[in-house]
Amino acid sequence: MSQNQVVVGAQWGDEGKGKVVDLLTEQADVIVRFQGGNNAGHTIVVGDKETILHLIPSGILHPDKTCLIGNGVVLDPEVFCRELDNLQGNGVSVGPERLKISHRTHLILPYHKRLDNLREKIRSGGDRIGTTGRGIGPAYEDKVSRVGIRAVDVLDEDLLRSKIAKALAEKNVLCEHYFGESPDTVEEVLQEVLPWTRRLKQHLADVSGEILWARNQGYNILFEGAQGTLLDVDHGTFPYVTSSNTVASNAAAGSGCGMHAIDEVVAVVKAYTTRVGGGPHPTEIEDGAGAHMQEKGAEYGATTGRKRRCGWLDLVCLRDAVRLNTPSRLAITKLDVLGGLSDIWVCTEYEHEGIRLTHPPQKEGGLQEVNPVYTRLDGWQEDISGVRSWVDLPRAAREYIQFIEDSLGVKAGYVSVGPAREQTLIR
Ligand code: GDP
Ligand code: IMO
Ligand code: MG
Repeated sequence: MSQNQVVVGAQWGDEGKGKVVDLLTEQADVIVRFQGGNNAGHTIVVGDKETILHLIPSGILHPDKTCLIGNGVVLDPEVFCRELDNLQGNGVSVGPERLKISHRTHLILPYHKRLDNLREKIRSGGDRIGTTGRGIGPAYEDKVSRVGIRAVDVLDEDLLRSKIAKALAEKNVLCEHYFGESPDTVEEVLQEVLPWTRRLKQHLADVSGEILWARNQGYNILFEGAQGTLLDVDHGTFPYVTSSNTVASNAAAGSGCGMHAIDEVVAVVKAYTTRVGGGPHPTEIEDGAGAHMQEKGAEYGATTGRKRRCGWLDLVCLRDAVRLNTPSRLAITKLDVLGGLSDIWVCTEYEHEGIRLTHPPQKEGGLQEVNPVYTRLDGWQEDISGVRSWVDLPRAAREYIQFIEDSLGVKAGYVSVGPAREQTLIR
């Protein structure tokens, strides 16, 4: 019987999913991305080599595993080809026999990126979502409004041309008359895209069928989430969210399997909270401990290089993440980064309009109005990056993990104390 797991981020992304997926890939045969696109930046450290993957599943560094890109992903063909080249240049095999893209995956085309950036440009200050500028939102919009271009369309150039013409019709009106920019022509778009699509064709596959086949063989499948639960388009901090469902249950719809194909959810929780881009972050701290986390945790975006906004762990938001994903285990990452702080504060409730809340307020903008209620825990001074077993952790570090487990009612199956594979305590 295959044992299939979903790994999702429990916060605003960058929790360390890449590291956890890479670790769990040891026991998996097939690794599947099911949502998001190259807005993701998943970092994997093997030995002294760091690899950042944006689109291709993090399992690719294990040579004997198959990697699938599901229908729920939005794929930029140019980024896909560049990522292939980079991996190949580093000696990683990325042939079509081990890297497959669903025919039904929607493509990100140049006009999606343009629109994403134009929209952000005309927004000011707090109105800005702070997107990654990768065309993610506009590509998902086209899918939902039924004018999206799917990977399978590259097999028929005439169809591709006519679909691009249809998709451009409305966008060009926006470009010219709303943004005051020049329109795109179909031929310009095709010229830019066709060189990339030639390579894409080789990787097209029936991903849903591949998953069923793997299950029938008893192979283990690992579903790799991108972004984080608080960035989910339905359940996150709307409108400061990404444009896909990032929660674990989308692994089934986003890859083409039934929900019974999934046995377990692992939620990745960073030991503190970071957010990149706009939107509320109740426990954010700009100096002191925030600066400590920023520097010691090297909190710069793996995709855009932007500074991540750091703050204390927010159990109120995490309670929502547990409710939405029903994880059986947590993977708590970056515990080492908290070492050296004398006090550690954890947000256990919010105060909002005179009452205490254990879950985030439902109304839009409500998270901007809350006051976090904190509990103080002891810090530790030791460097724990070399610790490999639970009993060798300082008492205060163990108590911190236990406090999180008790508050969320979920055990931490993994505790990460550094970026490398071996810097992990498995419980
Ligand atoms: P992802 O998007 O969730 O895969 O996370 P990112 O790769 O964007 O960001 C996580 C960063 O933290 C990466 O640079 C990782 O190498 C690093 N990292 C992961 N786990 C740990 C850890 O336990 N300790 C430290 N210090 N760094 C870690
Ligand atoms: P990984 O997989 C952190 C954020 C952006 C912005 C919002 C919308 O590495 O955890 P988008 O370009 O998706 O329309 O931007 O979502 N965002 C991420 N933040 N990690 C990510 O991915 C993110 N992907 C998108 O910063 O606030
Ligand atoms: Mg990331």
